[in-house]
Amino acid sequence: MRYFLVWLICNVQLVNTDAVELTDMFGEIQSPNFPDSYPSDADVTWNISVPDGFRIKLYFMHFDLESSYLCEYDYVKVESEDQALSTFCGREATDTEQTPGQQPILSPGSSMSITFRSDFSNEERFTGFDAHYTAVDIDECLEKSDEELACDHHCHNYIGGYYCSCRFGYILHSDNRTCKVECSDNLFAQRNGVIHSPDFPNSYPKSSDCLYRIELEEGFFITLQFEDSFDIEDHPEVTCPYDYIKITAGVKEFGPFCGERSPGRIETRSNIIHILFHSDNSGENRGWKLSYTAIGDPCPLLEPPPNGRIDPSQATYTFKDQVVITCNTGYNVLKDGVESESFQVECMKDGMWSNKVPVCQIADCKAPPRLEHGFATFSSPDNLTTFQSGIQYSCQQPFYQMMPNVSGTYTCNAKGFWQSPELGRRLPTCQPVCGKPRFSRSLLARISRGGHAQRGISPWIAMLHRNGRPFCGGSLIGNRWIVTAAHCLHEELELEDPVPRSSSIISPSSFTIILGKHRTQRRDDTEQHMQAGAIFVHPSYKPATFEHDIALVALSEEARLNDYVMPICFPDSVLPKDTMVIVSGWGKQFLKRLPEALMEIEIPLTDHALCKEAYAKLQKVITDDMICAGEKQGGKDACSGDSGGPMVTLNNRTGEWQLIGTVSWGDGCGLNDRYGVYSNVLLALPWIKEVTGVDY
Ligand code: ARG
Repeated sequence: MRYFLVWLICNVQLVNTDAVELTDMFGEIQSPNFPDSYPSDADVTWNISVPDGFRIKLYFMHFDLESSYLCEYDYVKVESEDQALSTFCGREATDTEQTPGQQPILSPGSSMSITFRSDFSNEERFTGFDAHYTAVDIDECLEKSDEELACDHHCHNYIGGYYCSCRFGYILHSDNRTCKVECSDNLFAQRNGVIHSPDFPNSYPKSSDCLYRIELEEGFFITLQFEDSFDIEDHPEVTCPYDYIKITAGVKEFGPFCGERSPGRIETRSNIIHILFHSDNSGENRGWKLSYTAIGDPCPLLEPPPNGRIDPSQATYTFKDQVVITCNTGYNVLKDGVESESFQVECMKDGMWSNKVPVCQIADCKAPPRLEHGFATFSSPDNLTTFQSGIQYSCQQPFYQMMPNVSGTYTCNAKGFWQSPELGRRLPTCQPVCGKPRFSRSLLARISRGGHAQRGISPWIAMLHRNGRPFCGGSLIGNRWIVTAAHCLHEELELEDPVPRSSSIISPSSFTIILGKHRTQRRDDTEQHMQAGAIFVHPSYKPATFEHDIALVALSEEARLNDYVMPICFPDSVLPKDTMVIVSGWGKQFLKRLPEALMEIEIPLTDHALCKEAYAKLQKVITDDMICAGEKQGGKDACSGDSGGPMVTLNNRTGEWQLIGTVSWGDGCGLNDRYGVYSNVLLALPWIKEVTGVDY
């Protein structure tokens, strides 16, 4: 029986297979002849298919089939993608059979096939079934949440499909599912740094290839130190099939590394490193972090030079390390013959220093600069000029003195300059000592009567000499200037004429200045002949009235100061009338005779008003730039040939002789109620100082 039955079924199957293709989004399927009883030997299949992203919901409105053990005879079978979902038979409301009941059937995918079969008999006239189906949307975001194929970051469902998106900073991989990062453009050029997987210590992105390049100058060797916290997806049997980190250092390769064991420390001995980190489209691992340092080969130990030091001071120095060599105070770096404050050397990639350590050479002030009319003596017996050595400047005593009045002690400083506590690097000067004759007047009484001066008593007096005879006097100021009367330097000099015609200045080469002179027309052992270099007449000089009758003569060479040649000092205040002054000269005496030697007289200064009055009678004006001197009764006076010569007085406060006036003019010589007239030096002093530069 059974054998026969099988044959029959096979037979029916072969001849009576029906397949209905359904592609609408909804529809109804019924057993053949519904609602009448279904025929025997029926075999119908409905293949329902809906678009991807939908599934099919099947719902039975009516079900009435013959029931049998395991639904062997008549049945409805629901399948999806070759997988049986369920097989139904029997009739509703009896609890022994497998009927679909109220429960809808859902296909896992977008297709479903329903097969209805009946055997060779339907004696009880079962009515079969009536079912509806609809396509329903799949919420992939919910369904796939636990799966491998879920969206990496964000899932968005829509009817019939879904799409994925990524968090800020990530981009969707071409698999439309995983989120990767752009991380292949990382260049590290510093000597040390930290590198880690993206988002470390949160899990790293999927589907990413990150390239980290460390590129340093040749000569550096990079060392990597991975942190212990290391987590890259691995596999128990296969080496790093999914995610890995791989390091290339020149020809050397390190890795691939994965798993949870940190690679630790890697000394690459290379200056260019590429670190590739690959992740596949799955896995949640924390990644890795490393710090790197780069160091070069060490250079040999450096010894600081004697009297010097090295900064910074380290136990070892490697490639690119720089040290500065400086010297102790008073020493200078000497390198290739050049002195400097400091010198820098650098450790090179070959492990050699860029240069030799220079030496520290003691600062040398060298020979002290020459001081005119002075000299330097060394404090040390072997004339040292190096740092901290001392020298002592002195002036040629007693004719020169130091200006300003300082000790003259200089010490060689650390910079190699002679330095004084008062003047710093400036030098003092040696200025001529003025108004301090070596010889003092022995017999004042004799002077007051007028008479021959002692030799050397007026060492500042100058004789102006022309055409074989003296013609005027003058006074030495400083060591190369003569003060005289302006009218002395006029052409067509008329000794007798008190008011010379205005004419031009004589040529400097036409006369001689004789210093150290005593005798009028005979040679003195002490005399010094000088030439005039230039002549400066007071700008306000008026030949017609003798106003500002004062002039300066520059000597073409310095006077040699000695006991017989010495300058006169400048006046420092207005003197009261009756102050005694001394006038000297080689001028004519009474009876128009030239004296044997230098003459001098001592006379009082005359009251200006009195003098003015005396000369008013002669229609001659005594101006403020003139000083008068002489006694009312006359007798003692300068005379022709004395012009330009000195009128001096002793400043009791300083003990120095000062130049008060220069012999200018008078009415006759030594007449009663007439006075000698002199040019006022104090008034002309600003001009004298400006022209000569003398200021003592
Ligand atoms: N003018 C005269 C000369 O050229 C000097 C006159 C001085 N006379 C006098 N009485 N102080 O030398």
